[in-house]
Amino acid sequence: MDLICVDQEKCIKCGMCINVCPNILEMEENGPKAKYPELCIGCGQCVAVCPQAAIDNERAPLSNQISFDQNLHFNSKAATQFLRSRRSIRHYKQASVPHGKLLELINIARFAPTAGNGQGVSCTIIEDKDILKKAVELTYKWMESMVVGSDTVIYRSFAKHIQMHKEKGNDTILRDAPHIILATTPKDMPRGRENTIFSLAYLELYAPSLGLGSCWAGLLEMCLFDRYQPLLDLFNIPQDKEITGAVMIGYPLYRYQRMVDRNPIEVDWL
Ligand SMILES: Cc1cc2nc3c(=O)[nH]c(=O)nc-3n(C[C@H](O)[C@H](O)[C@H](O)COP(=O)(O)O)c2cc1C
Repeated sequence: MDLICVDQEKCIKCGMCINVCPNILEMEENGPKAKYPELCIGCGQCVAVCPQAAIDNERAPLSNQISFDQNLHFNSKAATQFLRSRRSIRHYKQASVPHGKLLELINIARFAPTAGNGQGVSCTIIEDKDILKKAVELTYKWMESMVVGSDTVIYRSFAKHIQMHKEKGNDTILRDAPHIILATTPKDMPRGRENTIFSLAYLELYAPSLGLGSCWAGLLEMCLFDRYQPLLDLFNIPQDKEITGAVMIGYPLYRYQRMVDRNPIEVDWL
């Protein structure tokens, strides 16, 4: 089968598909043709933009592309509230999230953009309480080793985390969350971390609509990215993959009433 299949009766040769993908498609007498199919990244833009549903692409089939629901209105006010109401959740109910709901949450992550449409971000969900507890303890142990002899602000801040943990039992690593999601990518995947950040950001933004909360597990990530072997061994990720991100997930204990303000963004015009 050719990469591109065009329904001649529907195609009006408007050229939109060519405009969104000029490196691969060219307009011919009978409509668009894939001149360089080997370069197609399967992004599906040619199919999505066609006002006639006249073009199909075997790497992004028309049958998998859903039309927009024209009755769903998401104006700027709603969009602003949606984006500004996401908060990092630092206290979770001690209730597990059903697997179905976790899968629904993770499913949204695959719609995030990835470099060259590389996709390839996968997940390991950790819900075993012993593993979570061990991960927290190992991260604190790693932090202790980093504090020794270090004078950078970040490592000095570790001392406070460790002290609060020792004195009050505070868990600033995973916040006693009942689940963490570890994002993984193939080791040789270019831009795996950036792709992960987009994917997990989608997931974090979607979580509240499922009644869930999340928080980026940055301290755990630092320990992992420093290749602290005891923690890597604990998570036992397949040899061909690497961990590229981590977020905590659970039901939020508190409900936020207000949206905070942030520093204005500096803008320059050239
Ligand atoms: C990359 C990154 C790493 C973070 N790491 C942690 C962390 O290890 N522990 C934690 O409790 N919060 C962590 N956070 C949450 C931030 O503290 C939080 O996003 C920030 O205070 C703003 O609050 P908000 O997310 O509720 O708007 C992290 C956030 C980001 C973006």
